[in-house]
Amino acid sequence: MIKIAVLGYGTIGSGVVEVLEKNKESITKRAGDEISVKYVLDLRDFENDPIQKKIVHDYNIIAEDEEIAVVVEAMGGVEPAYTFVKRALLAGKSVATSNKALVAKHGAELIDIAREKSINFMFEASVGGGIPIIRPLNSSLTADEIEEITGILNGTTNYMLTKMSNEGSDYADVLKEAQAKGYAEADPTADVEGHDACRKIAILTSLVCGRQVDFEEIHTEGISKITATDIKYAKQMGRAIKLLATSRKTENGYAAMVAPRMITAEHPLYNVNGVFNAIFVHGNVLGDAMFYGSGAGKLPTASAVIADIIDIVKHLHKNILVAWSSKKLELSDYEKSSCRFFVRTAKSEEEVKKIFTDAEIIRVPGIDDETGFLTQEMSEYDYKEAAERLGEIRQMIRA
Ligand code: HSE
Repeated sequence: MIKIAVLGYGTIGSGVVEVLEKNKESITKRAGDEISVKYVLDLRDFENDPIQKKIVHDYNIIAEDEEIAVVVEAMGGVEPAYTFVKRALLAGKSVATSNKALVAKHGAELIDIAREKSINFMFEASVGGGIPIIRPLNSSLTADEIEEITGILNGTTNYMLTKMSNEGSDYADVLKEAQAKGYAEADPTADVEGHDACRKIAILTSLVCGRQVDFEEIHTEGISKITATDIKYAKQMGRAIKLLATSRKTENGYAAMVAPRMITAEHPLYNVNGVFNAIFVHGNVLGDAMFYGSGAGKLPTASAVIADIIDIVKHLHKNILVAWSSKKLELSDYEKSSCRFFVRTAKSEEEVKKIFTDAEIIRVPGIDDETGFLTQEMSEYDYKEAAERLGEIRQMIRA
């Protein structure tokens, strides 16, 4: 029997405990051994829950118990998760985590410790909720040079944008609904401002290039400034607004960005709605692949965490190589990347045409106090310079 400890009895931790019990028989068969939760670490007590007899408040009990072979970290945030996880690994306990903040910041170091100790540090649930993407990148797509990853990596914002688009709902109301469904982070700013997606694309880029990508260096914009008027323009153009996290191999290295984009119906991510996540991958041998599924929430995330636990049990005392070194990757300057830009300005069509000569004017019935237009493809740098000359910009969304 393999004894494990779960750190945190919140949405994910309680999901892991629930699914281990619910699918006990098949999980035991697949792992080749029974997995039993010995401790659950939480600051709180759960008096009317049978879990209470496993609750501990002191991490030392877990760290010093030699019977514990696997620690599941489901607390979120960098500290104390980092201190606890590092201590577990140093004590020879493998770790499975759903914590993208921890993995993005300290992944390389924790992977190194696991390798030295011939154990495993696994983090499938840190990106894309229940969608397998870490394992495919680490073991299935290893013949390829991955040239592009573009993903809808945040369930909360995709849920919000879908509701705003389908039902014309208000931003604040849809955020409350996403929180109630257990999709959002403890502080939803991380979702709506793109920080969560930023950490996830940093993790994917690190895995693809084998080096440390500092998430602080990824240009990141969220959805908090998207309005019902923007959605009207998108619909008029047959486009949808999605928060996309992108990482591309370029002549100068890798370029990464998180930003809302107005995508056409032909785009592979156009039909990804609600809490679903999807990750488009282009490899130089494979061509295109898409990974699609439940991107957030208690049970999908628990599914990925438990798959990691099973893998750990199957590889006790044997490290599965993850090629992610602590050597830093310098990202190329995002201002050199190019795209089309959708812009709304208080200036007239004539004034727009003087500066953006090839602009495609977008007219939406009922909106007559501004000019909406799509630029031709241009660099970020050139757009910025032209937009400053035009002035009175109300909105810019990349297309
Ligand atoms: N808050 C995250 C999301 C949870 O909405 O996608 C899953 O990482």
